[in-house]
Amino acid sequence: MFSYKSLYKSIVAFSLILFLLSIPHIVLSSPQKDPTGLTPRKSSDYIHAVIEADRRVYSDLVVDRLSKNTSLGSTENWEAEDALLLPAQFLLKSAEISNERGIGMRYFLKSLWPINQKNSPKSEIEKIGLKEVVKNPSEPFTWVVKLGGIWYYQAIYPDIATSESCVSCHNNHLNSPRRDFKVGEVMGGIIINLPLGKKGKKEDLEKYLFAPEVIADYVHSILDADRTVYSKYIVDRLQNKNIIRASENWWNDNNLPLPAQFLLNASQLVEKRKLGIDFRLISLWPINPGNGPANEFEHKGLETVEIHPIRPYIGRSKIGRKHFFQAIYPDFAVTQGCADCHNAHPVSPKTDFKLHDVMGGIAVTLELN
Ligand code: HEC
Ligand code: HEC
Repeated sequence: MFSYKSLYKSIVAFSLILFLLSIPHIVLSSPQKDPTGLTPRKSSDYIHAVIEADRRVYSDLVVDRLSKNTSLGSTENWEAEDALLLPAQFLLKSAEISNERGIGMRYFLKSLWPINQKNSPKSEIEKIGLKEVVKNPSEPFTWVVKLGGIWYYQAIYPDIATSESCVSCHNNHLNSPRRDFKVGEVMGGIIINLPLGKKGKKEDLEKYLFAPEVIADYVHSILDADRTVYSKYIVDRLQNKNIIRASENWWNDNNLPLPAQFLLNASQLVEKRKLGIDFRLISLWPINPGNGPANEFEHKGLETVEIHPIRPYIGRSKIGRKHFFQAIYPDFAVTQGCADCHNAHPVSPKTDFKLHDVMGGIAVTLELN
């Protein structure tokens, strides 16, 4: 006999079955668990971690330390005044090098109160994003937008006044529209643009997965641009003018860290954050035996990129339930100084490096899920 009560009961039971059936589906389709790629958020977190670490090393271990212990300052007119680049100029110069390669990913340093108008937000959404990270600096502000026919994932991470020097220079600068910055406050933001494609709907694109080789290339592009700016515009320029040297005992000698030590310090900062990204500088002819290949993969990778420096040597591995992507990129003697110092070093196993030679490799590891 028909009764509303039993109809009600079967509807409840049916819905319960549907709900239970949908649980494994929810778990399995979570993009975080997919070991084949990287979510936009994880990708921009990795990219930001590298930009941020190099920014910290340059501003704390080079600019602040040397301005306290030596007469070498950082000035806007660094070239004419034989000084260090400002921290912002270091980032902007390296962003320019990386962005000009046209590799897809681009990054910028911007602010609502810029000293240089070039660094002001270029759209309403960038302005909103910069305001959001001022209000909530513990999270990046992210969105998906179509620009010139291409969908982009964009993320703004806060840029914080980590030292008194940031604040006092900006507050006293003639062109600064704001004069009450305090240490610990958000002064601006690092904007990362990741292209997603021309097709698709916005909702689907939020679930987009990047191929790990693409994100590793983006990470490497930043490391390489920072390494070039540091070697060319800091170490070689100031060394050639006899203003300051880079030395192994840089900390005690009040000198510049070596390019390898710059990268090492940045990699330690990134490792401490336990985000799932790591990078190391390695070589088949290491001055420091600790920088030799750590396993068969690194050995094979270094041998391969020496012969085929056109592309990185890549591989995947699984440790426990974690999936990793690894890439080894050739590390070139970008300046004559790279080759000269290694060739002259008393414990260098190789003494005939030339400009543009492959001297070793940068090993980038990304955790995938
Ligand atoms: C000695 C002066 C000086 C110091 C120290 C300094 N800045 Fe700047 N900063 C500048 C100048 C000048 C610019 C503009 C550079 C350009 O021409 O694009 C700038 C640019 C910026 C920008 C981009 C927006 C803008 O104002 O044009 C941000 C954000 C920023 N600095 C934050 C910082 C932080 C954070 C620190 C400390 C880690 C810092 N600055 C240290 C002088 C300084
Ligand atoms: C003034 C000397 C000096 C300069 C300039 C220099 N290096 Fe090094 N490099 C060293 C020393 C010393 C080490 C070992 C650092 C350590 O203890 O980990 C090293 C480490 C390395 C390593 C890791 C393997 C090894 O030898 O331990 C690579 C690769 C490397 N340098 C490449 C370069 C490149 C490329 C450049 C230019 C961008 C460069 N170096 C500039 C002295 C120098």
